[in-house]
Amino acid sequence: MMRFYEIIKKKRDGHALSAEEIDFFVRGSTDGSIPDYQQSALLMAIFFRGMDERETADLTMAMVKSGTQIDIGLPKAVDKHSTGGVADTTTLIVAPIVAACGVPVAKMTGRGLGHTGGTVDKLESITGFSTALTMEQYKEQVTKIGLAIISASSSIAPADKVLYALRDVTATIESIPLIASSIMSKKLAAGATHIVLDVKFGRGAFMADLPDALYLAQTMINIGNRLGRPTVALLTNMDAPLGNRIGNALEIREALDILANQGGSPDLREVSLALAREMILHYFPEMSVTTAYATAKEALDSGRALAKFTEMVEAQGGDLSVALPQARYRETLYAQREGFVRAIDPLLLGGLSVEIGAGRHKKGDKIDYAAGFELVVRVGDKVASDAPILIVHASIPLTAHFMERLRSAFLLGDAPPSVTDWHIERLS
Ligand code: URA
Repeated sequence: MMRFYEIIKKKRDGHALSAEEIDFFVRGSTDGSIPDYQQSALLMAIFFRGMDERETADLTMAMVKSGTQIDIGLPKAVDKHSTGGVADTTTLIVAPIVAACGVPVAKMTGRGLGHTGGTVDKLESITGFSTALTMEQYKEQVTKIGLAIISASSSIAPADKVLYALRDVTATIESIPLIASSIMSKKLAAGATHIVLDVKFGRGAFMADLPDALYLAQTMINIGNRLGRPTVALLTNMDAPLGNRIGNALEIREALDILANQGGSPDLREVSLALAREMILHYFPEMSVTTAYATAKEALDSGRALAKFTEMVEAQGGDLSVALPQARYRETLYAQREGFVRAIDPLLLGGLSVEIGAGRHKKGDKIDYAAGFELVVRVGDKVASDAPILIVHASIPLTAHFMERLRSAFLLGDAPPSVTDWHIERLS
């Protein structure tokens, strides 16, 4: 019989844990036989001592085995995952693009977390849309139309739920092996055979610094490769909101605009095409990078991606002929001076959008699907004094104080910002 005390001590003293010891920990966390205080002590030891590649892969696999493992019944299941951003609607654009290129997409996804939005919440702003399909309906839809997006089942990696909740209250969230195994365990349990990661860095990201984001990306790639699930990562900038709209129905509108080639943020479009290219390359490895990009772009430009999105919405009970939820109040924020937009703070805007109902303060809170912000300017734009910079959509009247806090998300200056290019770096 293993003594958990010895496992904590071993990690505390900086040694690598064996696969058996890691399994014992994950089983004991899931069934509650190891008390919270001992689990927390080990998490803190991992936080300080780290884990090597082999341990991190073993931890991931132990968490995968703690719950249901989905087999979608396809020879290849390509999935994408984003580490979370603001105005980041890539899934709603990438999934229909690649599905229109013949890459089946069976996607389980989540709700908003903190200042970041979630795909499930966004899709639920479409009248009638259901993200709660049965496993049979899910598989049948993927077979029939090549695309389904549903809410992640609670039986996926239950060990992660226990450990995440403990990490959240013991200051052990920010450990790269723990984050990487948490994310990858959910992807693997949901049946992904090939994975594309969108790892954000910058002010609105989970990992603000580029070196940390690089390390996180590399750690997840190593896990995937060790477990036989090829993984690539794009590192993308989250110093400013990716899209022009923040809020659930507003983000659906922007995804539809991009799919219809009728505007939307060029950065959101570019990151979506880059992610689509990587998913296509996983599925058709004989294709060149240039052809994969051109294939994705053609699906978008021709409207085939939009048609695929519409097909998915209909298959999941949604009705796009019903107008998306509209807010009762709209208020415009104007620039107080002329100049260049040097920065737009995604963290602040994400947080303020939650305050007006676009996200949840606590589990179970009701979302106001119509609430959010529409950016009228992007970083690098030149604005005149009194020009509109943002429009608020809200169900409640807005105070002057709220508008002032919104204003502080914008930094205007005399000189243009030095870098306005979208930064995308590929790692594999
Ligand atoms: N997202 C996850 O799923 N897990 C983490 O640990 C951090 C972010």
